[in-house]
Amino acid sequence: MKTVTTPAEARRLLGRMREAGGRVGFVPTMGALHAGHESLVTMARGLTDIVVASIFVNPRQFGPGEDFERYPRVIERDSAALERLGCDVLFAPRRESIYSAGDRTTIAVSALGDRLCGASRPGHFEGVLLVVAKLFNIVRPDAAFFGQKDAQQAVL
Ligand code: PAF
Repeated sequence: MKTVTTPAEARRLLGRMREAGGRVGFVPTMGALHAGHESLVTMARGLTDIVVASIFVNPRQFGPGEDFERYPRVIERDSAALERLGCDVLFAPRRESIYSAGDRTTIAVSALGDRLCGASRPGHFEGVLLVVAKLFNIVRPDAAFFGQKDAQQAVL
């Protein structure tokens, strides 16, 4: 497994791998991987040729008091798990590579984003969709794999 930390590196590496042929399967995560994430990587491994996972604790999807700082960061353990599952590329960007200081880009979420979990977490799904759009722009996957436990997120 190769680990890349900048969008430029990720684009270069994936560009080369794509040229060699194959579909890219992408599993976006915030790390602290558990059995659910592992099943997504295994599914991606079975259905696509180049498996990419990302680990990025996305500040934009945490509201005030929602423990962004205390979110577990266990990159070495996660990296070993991904390697064992046959992941080809780990993209683990730093915050500055995803959000620049003057960044004003936002994403409008459909009305579904204001209901259920969205009702008690204003701005949460805007943050999720923004980071996923940014990650998709970098990884350019043919297929992406999201857990079904957070059904609202998966639908959005
Ligand atoms: O489900 C998650 O872990 C996150 O919401 C996601 C999709 C990786 C975006 O940060």
